[in-house]
Amino acid sequence: MEFLELQNMKIHFPIRGGIFNTIQDYVYAVDGVNMVIGTGKTYGLVGESGSGKTTIGKGIIGLEHVTGGKVLYEGVDVTNKARSRAQAYRDYNKDIQMIFQDSTSSLNPKKRIKDVIAEPMRNYFNYTKEEELNRVIELLEIVGLNENAIYRYPHEFSGGQRQRIGVARAVASDPKLIIADEPTSALDLSVQAQVLNFMQRIQKEYGLSYLFISHDLSVVKHMADDIAIMHRGRFVEQGSKEQIFNNPQHIYTKRLLSAIPKIDPLNREEHMDERRRIEAAYHEHQKDYYDENGRVYDLMKLSDDHYAALNPNISAEQLNIKGDA
Ligand SMILES: Nc1ncnc2c1ncn2[C@@H]1O[C@H](COP(=O)(O)OP(=O)(O)O)[C@@H](O)[C@H]1O
Ligand SMILES: [Mg+2]
Repeated sequence: MEFLELQNMKIHFPIRGGIFNTIQDYVYAVDGVNMVIGTGKTYGLVGESGSGKTTIGKGIIGLEHVTGGKVLYEGVDVTNKARSRAQAYRDYNKDIQMIFQDSTSSLNPKKRIKDVIAEPMRNYFNYTKEEELNRVIELLEIVGLNENAIYRYPHEFSGGQRQRIGVARAVASDPKLIIADEPTSALDLSVQAQVLNFMQRIQKEYGLSYLFISHDLSVVKHMADDIAIMHRGRFVEQGSKEQIFNNPQHIYTKRLLSAIPKIDPLNREEHMDERRRIEAAYHEHQKDYYDENGRVYDLMKLSDDHYAALNPNISAEQLNIKGDA
């Protein structure tokens, strides 16, 4: 069942200037995206830096103003209602939490771990001091930290531990969806794997859904059921993980896929050739994949679980020849 839906979501930032500080133009950070996140599922959102991924997450939880389209939560329009104090949106605010990439800046350095984790609970539950402490210890245990962490401060922990504290804090309000914005990109590979495995474990345990944001397709492959590839504020391709990985159609998706390092030394040479070919095709055929303003085309439905932003004036066969040549 779907419980979070974005319908043609837009977030445009005005650029002001001139002597009257009037609006000169807009940054089209998010420019008409659609997404359905199912219960217990992970939606992977991939794209290079500046493509608009974080802005989508912030729009969902109400940290950025949504300028067009809708955010629906269990069928109810909650656009720009999140973070409001109104009782009606209390559940929404409780049910959707966001973890940011930089755990150092998102955990208050002056607060002890006990309070860092308990804060969301205090907003939504009426625990006694004892219940609260027990719950904090339980959460620390779940994320693999010792209970004597409670009186320490965030800076006393390693990056990986802090990121797990961030996850414990996010889970504390008993949410249904966690928006994880590059949760492991600041971590070493081995620690990254630990945090990801742990996130998958609590997903099963709590029936959580994730919006998993990353610039790294290989990480998303490990986590996601569905994937959207974002570029210049729009989705260039969207669908099931199988379609995105086995049947990519947009040159930008192919380029991201070819950039995933291959470990197999036998095919390394071949892989490098392929990568160079796609890189060349990407630059050579911009006009076939983006309109005259460099804008990503509207998505075209290719099958029930696959959409790609293809030029409506060029046939798929022609694009394929160019994209693969
Ligand atoms: N508050 C803001 N005001 C103006 N522009 C912004 C603001 N936040 C983000 N942007 C711009 O929107 C675009 C998308 O940013 P962001 O969502 O952070 O991308 P990503 O997370 O994919 O790296 C960028 O061009 C960024 O500079
Ligand atoms: Mg970002």
